[in-house]
Amino acid sequence: MPDTRLDSLRAALPGLRLLTDPAELEHYGRDWTRRWTPAPLAIALPDSVEDVQAIVRWANANGVAIVPSGGRTGLSGGAVAADGELVVSLERMNKVLGFDAVDRTLTVQAGIPLQLAQEAARERGLQYPVDFAARGSCSIGGNIATNAGGIRVVRYGNTREWIVGLKLVTGGGELLELGRALVKNSSGYDLRHLAIASEGTLGIVVEATLRLADPPPPTNVMLLALPSFEALMRVFAAFRSRLQLQAFEFLTDVALRHVLAHGAQAPFDEVHPFYVVTEFASDEASEAEALAAFEQCVNDGLVSDGVISASEAQAAQLWRLREGITESLAKYVPYKNDVSVRVSAMPAFLAETQALLGREYPQFEVVWFGHIGDGNLHINILKPDAVAQADFVADCERVTKLLAEVLQRHGGSISAEHGIGLVKKPYLWCTRSAAEIAAMRGIKAALDPNGIMNPGKLFDA
Ligand code: FAD
Ligand code: MLT
Ligand code: ZN
Repeated sequence: MPDTRLDSLRAALPGLRLLTDPAELEHYGRDWTRRWTPAPLAIALPDSVEDVQAIVRWANANGVAIVPSGGRTGLSGGAVAADGELVVSLERMNKVLGFDAVDRTLTVQAGIPLQLAQEAARERGLQYPVDFAARGSCSIGGNIATNAGGIRVVRYGNTREWIVGLKLVTGGGELLELGRALVKNSSGYDLRHLAIASEGTLGIVVEATLRLADPPPPTNVMLLALPSFEALMRVFAAFRSRLQLQAFEFLTDVALRHVLAHGAQAPFDEVHPFYVVTEFASDEASEAEALAAFEQCVNDGLVSDGVISASEAQAAQLWRLREGITESLAKYVPYKNDVSVRVSAMPAFLAETQALLGREYPQFEVVWFGHIGDGNLHINILKPDAVAQADFVADCERVTKLLAEVLQRHGGSISAEHGIGLVKKPYLWCTRSAAEIAAMRGIKAALDPNGIMNPGKLFDA
């Protein structure tokens, strides 16, 4: 049955591309979580800021909820439209708008894929350093809305550090120009930072000005094999004290097994319980320091084996072992936990979490990996074939509550970089106090008075 509400949107914006085909509703109505059945009203594909403003005004007038949509690579259900919402996809707003060599900034439309923004920076002799495996599909708007992290946070920080300006169409339909790419600006609240990690609940990011960095040095990649979790933090400390690390990532033997089954090449003859992928400058001094750190760790019994890349192709092969994990697990539709604590709290948190999961999940396969240098662990639980999906999710939710209590005791976060969305909404309390959540609700009410922007995500109204 065609929905007559859309007639008035077509009349207000005759040139707007609007999709209602069932296959398209399904495609645009879900993200990588695959847990909810997509059921959007329609998909709108605006071409301009003016289109976005007109859509938001129409949605307010007609009481229609909006789900802002980037590349839908999100892992928290933030871009899911399962309840008759209008999906506003930014995919046609994907252009580079400007570059300023003096300010070292790149201005882009929010729908541009991360990889195209990275390439645009590289072509101009600079670097946009936020980076992770979904680079080809995720958008700058989605990265801003989730404050995406990735594999180089240990060196460059999260998305938040690199957004010097953005334009936001608020839930009320106003266009706010936030940040203005000023280096210094002490003129009151920095509303730009409210938009970052807002998960589409305050408005739609339509443009962004990215700060660019010096190009990265030529690098080497080293893969280390480790005997224990305890060794991880000590190896990190040893390498960090000697080198400026570009990345320091870890995975377990279980994660490696899945990536190898997915086509990657085995790095060692023997299996080891833990692995680290680390990257550093390939100049002579850095290489010497890396080898010295490696020898020190071997002598201290913290590292059992290692390999260093001798070419770009080998470096890419080593990175595949870490970056290929998510894809290799996708067929299991894993239950994902993306948690963080201060790096100093990591050893105690690791020990407690390991004990908890060992006790609660003897029947499930648990895959650990993540950004150990940032205190960020990805804990993926795989459903055994014999267990029904609903029972599996219920069990994972029960254990996540226990994990949330551990996180609260250690002052950690239930979402390090993926966002809260629908998946982690029941556990926001462990990271945010009741007063903070009340303040967030107040901010939402100010920018989205009718509550049309991504309702039900992050927290309930
Ligand atoms: P979407 O999934 O489309 O949306 C995510 C959220 O942002 C939703 O709430 C949506 O409503 C909102 N949103 C999207 N666009 C806008 C906009 N223009 N304005 C306002 N709100 C908007 N994440 C990391 O942080 N680090 C990683 O290392 C990492 N690795 C990944 C690897 C793989 C293989 C995959 C599949 C995902 C990975 N992710 C990672 C998760 C995901 O890629 C990021 O969360 C990414 O930032 C999402 O971008 P997107 O454009 O796909 O957003
Ligand atoms: C990663 O670090 O690979 C991502 O955050 C994706 C994931 O957690 O699956
Ligand atoms: Zn990650």
